[in-house]
Amino acid sequence: MLTTSRSRNQPRAGRSWFFSGMDCSVSRRKPQLLVKIIMVVLLIAVCIFILKQTPGFSGTNVFAKHDFGVTHVLVTGGAGYIGSHATLRLLKDSYRVTIVDNLSRGNIGAVQILLKLFPEPGRLQFIFADLGDAKVVDRIFAQNAFDAVMHFAAVAYVGESTLEPLRYYHNITSNTLVILESMAKHGVKTLIYSSTCATYGEPEKMPITEKTPQFPINPYGKAKKMAEDMILDFSKTTDMAVMILRYFNVIGSDPEGRLGEAPRPELREQGRISGACFDAARGIIPGLKVKGADYHTRDGTCIRDYIDVTDLVDAHVKALDKARPKNVGIYNVGTGKGRSVKEFVEACKKATGVDIKVDYLERRPGDYAEVYSDPSKINKELNWTAEYTDLEQSLRIAWRWQKSHINGYDTSLNIPT
Ligand SMILES: NC(=O)c1ccc[n+]([C@@H]2O[C@H](COP(=O)([O-])OP(=O)(O)OC[C@H]3O[C@@H](n4cnc5c(N)ncnc54)[C@H](O)[C@@H]3O)[C@@H](O)[C@H]2O)c1
Ligand SMILES: *[C@@H]1O[C@H](CO)[C@@H](O)[C@H](O)[C@H]1NC(C)=O
Ligand SMILES: *[C@@H]1O[C@H](CO)[C@@H](O)[C@H](O)[C@H]1NC(C)=O
Ligand SMILES: *[C@@H]1O[C@H](CO)[C@@H](O)[C@H](O)[C@H]1NC(C)=O
Repeated sequence: MLTTSRSRNQPRAGRSWFFSGMDCSVSRRKPQLLVKIIMVVLLIAVCIFILKQTPGFSGTNVFAKHDFGVTHVLVTGGAGYIGSHATLRLLKDSYRVTIVDNLSRGNIGAVQILLKLFPEPGRLQFIFADLGDAKVVDRIFAQNAFDAVMHFAAVAYVGESTLEPLRYYHNITSNTLVILESMAKHGVKTLIYSSTCATYGEPEKMPITEKTPQFPINPYGKAKKMAEDMILDFSKTTDMAVMILRYFNVIGSDPEGRLGEAPRPELREQGRISGACFDAARGIIPGLKVKGADYHTRDGTCIRDYIDVTDLVDAHVKALDKARPKNVGIYNVGTGKGRSVKEFVEACKKATGVDIKVDYLERRPGDYAEVYSDPSKINKELNWTAEYTDLEQSLRIAWRWQKSHINGYDTSLNIPT
């Protein structure tokens, strides 16, 4: 486990000073003994002072204690696409944030940008750790005074989940159990959980409300549904405050261009439609392959509900604000408007200015014709509405970041070791 905050060099410098101080404490000549002892004591005092200045030192670690008026949020998966955007918003709104991520899929580059934007002590710390390791997670909870948890960390590709189901049950369901156990043990009582419309499966009726029965049809949706069930069962026995947000298809990026979506190159194949459109526009792939143009929809292609990440993180902040002990809120987070794949591709062509080549192929098994949300519950109860509903504008913002980050985040600074 590694803790980073502010300059990465500081703790190191402090520690090596400490050791060099110990090295000179060997002495033989009696008359100078007292002087030497005083010198050593002084040196040690200086070392302790420097150590205390470094954020990792538990004695003065601001993250270790509750501060009146400051809400400290643990953001799991904060190096990932949605988690990094959520962290940016939380920090902007004066929350204190601890990111836990093992960088298996996220980007240290995103964390570095956030640390640079909020360098003041007590704002943001990054802990490199694997949520599958219950002992490590327990230690993180013991050493930090969290007020709430936003649990984003997961693996999140439907196709991959059918090929590697255990990876999904492990990294979604089982890791959520680890988080719940630590929350229970350490008295952290507010949880905002990232769920998905994939937990609904193929509902007969559109739009999808929170009362639509959940019959997930792939391991990803099932793993998320199981995690939801664990959270709900456990919450009945405690005074926890729980918000479960079921996102639809997330797109877009920070309008100020500080963050973007940068999945690992090896995950491109699994990728989501916006990534594929941008890759086609950049010429990384020859064109787009749209699977299925003979669905019973207005133009024959599938219909989905695309939610901009800026709106999505706004829903999280509102959910956190409205979370109350012994209360469970379950909300769809979508625009309520379905867009066809053809419409999406047209918007992408306009946003990128590239005449992307599109091939229409056979249907892909497991895709359903139409999925879109009814967001009236979250509108009413959390006073949340999607603002970024112009597909072309969302894609233009995301494209701007993609174009200036051909290789994703600049990782010249490398992963800390
Ligand atoms: N992107 C979407 O369209 C979408 C839709 C619905 C729900 N979701 C949910 O939103 C959440 C975030 O998704 P995202 O698109 O930002 O994914 P992402 O892959 O960009 O981010 C996930 C992050 O979790 C981290 N992580 C994974 N396993 C970990 C582990 N064992 N220990 C520590 N860190 C770990 C990864 O390193 C990564 O940084 C997920 O829970 C996902 O299921 C996403
Ligand atoms: C991340 O966690 C997984 C287990 O969930 C582990 O297999 C993998 O090696 C970890 N990656 C890193 C970089 O630590
Ligand atoms: C998820 O779990 C599997 C074990 O089933 C592990 O091998 C893998 O590294 C884990 N992490 C990720 C990010 O997939
Ligand atoms: C709801 O949100 C809008 C802005 O989005 C705000 O003007 C309004 O006052 C809010 N209403 C309540 C009841 O908080």
